[in-house]
Amino acid sequence: MAPLAWGLIGGGEGSQIGPAHRLGARLDGLFRLEAGALDHRAEAGRAYGRRLGIAEDRAYGDWREMLEGERARADRVELVTVATPNSTHHEIARAFLAAGFHVLCEKPMTMTVEEGEDLVRLARDTGRILAVNYGYTGYPLVRHMRAMVARGDLGAVRLAVAEFAHGHHADAADMDNPRVRWRYDPAQAGVSAQFADCGIHALHMASFVTGQEVERLSADTVACVPGRALEDDAQVNLRFDGGAVGRLWTSSVALGRQHGLTLQVFGERGGLAWAQERPDQLRWTPLGGRTQTIERGEAGLSPEHDRACRVTVGHAEGMPLAFANLYADLAEAIAARREGRAPDPAADLLPSAEDGLRSMAAVHAVAESGAREGAWVDARPPMFRS
Ligand code: NAI
Repeated sequence: MAPLAWGLIGGGEGSQIGPAHRLGARLDGLFRLEAGALDHRAEAGRAYGRRLGIAEDRAYGDWREMLEGERARADRVELVTVATPNSTHHEIARAFLAAGFHVLCEKPMTMTVEEGEDLVRLARDTGRILAVNYGYTGYPLVRHMRAMVARGDLGAVRLAVAEFAHGHHADAADMDNPRVRWRYDPAQAGVSAQFADCGIHALHMASFVTGQEVERLSADTVACVPGRALEDDAQVNLRFDGGAVGRLWTSSVALGRQHGLTLQVFGERGGLAWAQERPDQLRWTPLGGRTQTIERGEAGLSPEHDRACRVTVGHAEGMPLAFANLYADLAEAIAARREGRAPDPAADLLPSAEDGLRSMAAVHAVAESGAREGAWVDARPPMFRS
C-alpha cells in the first residue's frame, strides 16, 4: 500500500509528544506527514512544518485553516493526529471527524463525560475511526499479556495492580513554573491533575490486558505539595465488570521514579508482572511453578506479540516503536475499510473512542470519590450503564 497522507495538529518544536508521533507514524513507511498545524503560534508552526518537509501550502498556521485547506483537496490527509493540550481535543477532534477524516486523539480524549459521549456518537454516526493514543498498549509484551489472559493461561483474573507514579512534580519550588502550574489549576486542567494525566494510562492498560472494564471505584486523592488545588497523588480501589479487583497508585511526587508505569495481573493459575522501563521482559509465575522471564522476540508467544515485534530478541525496542504499532493498526484498519474486509485480528487492538470515554468517566468518578472521602461511586459513563 502506498503511504497514507497524514496530518498532525500540535506536536510543535520542543513539545513533549510530537517527536514520538512523527517517529511512530513514519517507522513502517505507512504514513507520510503531508500537512500540519503544529504550534499555537501560527508562524512558528508554519516554519517548523516547512522544516519537517511539509509543502508550503500545507504547513498551516492554525487547525481551522488546515481543516478548510485539507477538506477541499482531492489528495487530502486520511488521518489527523491531535496532539494539542487537553482542553482543545474535543473541539478539534469533533471538527475533523465531522468533515470525514479519521482521527487519532491524544489522551485524555476530552475534558468532560458529555464531550466524550458526543465524540463516541459522532464516530459511530460518521463511521470514521476515532482512536485514542494509549500508546503503551503498543508494546509487544503488553499485547502478549492480553493474549495470555484471553486464551486462559491465568484462569480467571482475580486482581490487577497498576501504577503510574513519577517524581517530576515533586519540587515545591516549581509551583510557579508555567509548564507545571497549569496542570494543577482546575480552570485549565479540569477536575483532576495526576489521575487524568497518568492514572488513566494505568487504568486503560489494566482493562486492555484483563479484558474487563471498571464499574465502581473508591479514591483517596491528595495534594502532597501544599497550595495545589488538584491531586498530585491518588490511590484508587477498583471493581471490574468481570469480577476482578483493581488497585491503582498514581503520583507525581514519587521522587526517584522516572516514568513509573507498571502492571501486575494475578489470576487463578498464574501471575504476570511488566514494567514500562523494562518493556522487553515479562515475568510469568504459573501456580506451583517457578518464575520465568518471557523475552520480547522469543518464538512461539502469540500472534499479537509477533505482529507488534520488529527487532530480534535481545535488542532493545522502545516507546516510539510502541506508538508505531498503533499507527500500523490504524493503517490496517483504514486498508480493511477500503477493501471491505475485517482487519487482521492481531491488529484489531486500537484504543477506541469508547475507551477514551470510559477514562473520562473514571476521571470524574475519582474526583467525586476523592471529594467524598473515598465513597464508592459508579465509574461507568451514563451511556454504558443500562
Ligand atoms: P506540550 O505543551 O509539550 O506541546 C503542545 C504542543 O501543541 C506545542 O507545540 C503547542 O505549540 C501546540 N499547540 C497548543 N495549542 C495548539 C493549537 N490550538 N493548535 C495547534 N497547536 C497547538 O504538550 P505535550 O506534553 O506534548 O502534550 C500534548 C498532548 O499529548 C496532551 O493532551 C497530553 O496529555 C498528551 N500526551 C500523551 C502522552 C502519551 O503517552 N499518550 C505523553 C505525553 C503527552
